[in-house]
Amino acid sequence: MKVLSVVGARPQLVKLAPVAAAFADTGHRHVIVHTGQHYDAALSDVFFSGLAIPAPDVHLGIGSGSHGAQTGAALAALDPVLAEQRPDWVLVYGDTNSTLAGALAAVKLRLPVAHLEAGLRSFNRRMPEEHNRVLTDHCADLLLAPTREAVRLLAAEGLGARTRLAGDVMADICLRIRDAVLAGEHPPPALPAGVPPEGPFLLATLHRPDNTDDPARLDALIGALAALPLPVALPAHPRLTARAGEYGIDLARGSVRVGAPLPYADLVGAVLASAGVVTDSGGLQKEAFLLGRVCTTIRPETEWVETLEGGWNLLVPDPHGIPVERWGRLAARPAPPGPRPAPYGDGRAAHRVVRLLEAAVPALAS
Ligand code: UD1
Repeated sequence: MKVLSVVGARPQLVKLAPVAAAFADTGHRHVIVHTGQHYDAALSDVFFSGLAIPAPDVHLGIGSGSHGAQTGAALAALDPVLAEQRPDWVLVYGDTNSTLAGALAAVKLRLPVAHLEAGLRSFNRRMPEEHNRVLTDHCADLLLAPTREAVRLLAAEGLGARTRLAGDVMADICLRIRDAVLAGEHPPPALPAGVPPEGPFLLATLHRPDNTDDPARLDALIGALAALPLPVALPAHPRLTARAGEYGIDLARGSVRVGAPLPYADLVGAVLASAGVVTDSGGLQKEAFLLGRVCTTIRPETEWVETLEGGWNLLVPDPHGIPVERWGRLAARPAPPGPRPAPYGDGRAAHRVVRLLEAAVPALAS
């Protein structure tokens, strides 16, 4: 079997790591195509080197652009590559513009498409990721769902026959890197200057357009982080740095200490060293949960609803509207008592993905 993975943005590289490792244990051919959606070394190269992912077989170098231009550029650039490679499966990951481009490029060539992390929904149509997920799920041939909730949502959209529960490959990599970090196999995380490495501190990230692209909202959110009672480590995504610069918003104020985006092992180490996480990232909400740290999510909804159980994750879309002391107690709240549920699988999802792809090849051929 020949499987061609299309990736392009940072979270997809994290998901690719366990999948590439699972393929390496088989006789299957695994081709990696990087669209180039993310191109800064801190968002791309460090994930290949840090997570021991084989270098991409093909790099399309599409770069940044409006959503339409970026998706279109990736679609056009993928067309000849897929036509030449003719894999048994095109495997697309998550919900970025590269995901949708990969799925569309494949169906236009009548190549079978499998969607890893299928069935997540925010039901927020303002999010570009929501369109990308829904459209990808509806054109894919095999839907690899990470959770039972995702299976349920796909069935509700009439996609049950194409759906398989695979488990969450992000749990595979997160738990593996956690074990390595705890075993002292990685140096301590490179935290922004002024953050005490032994804690206590909070780890924050902001990158969603809804939070970064309106100057008044961005200023209010940074103000809320600045008012927190603990130092706040803020590894800043390029979008956040660019928007803050454009709007003349100072990120490094009050409690906030700004740093560069973190490589994956540093991120896992930083979550483990933190007293809690404040974020609008989907992946980081789940990583906090998997690593046993409370998370406060600066969004009105989450796709990872399991993290809300027991109060591990709290949705706080407008922290600046909350009295400052209450906001501080909330973001730095203690971990909920009792055992944490384990809805994201057993850390072996990537191997299951390979088996599900193997099992579905004959069905497609017949
Ligand atoms: C993308 C995904 C989002 C994911 C995020 C992870 C879409 C629609 N969004 O958002 O789901 O959570 O990746 O990081 O696909 N930039 C750089 N260097 C880079 C890449 C981007 O400076 O290597 C800057 C550019 O100014 C660019 C902006 O960041 O315009 C946004 O990049 P883009 O890939 O369009 O979306 P993200 O916000 O990263």
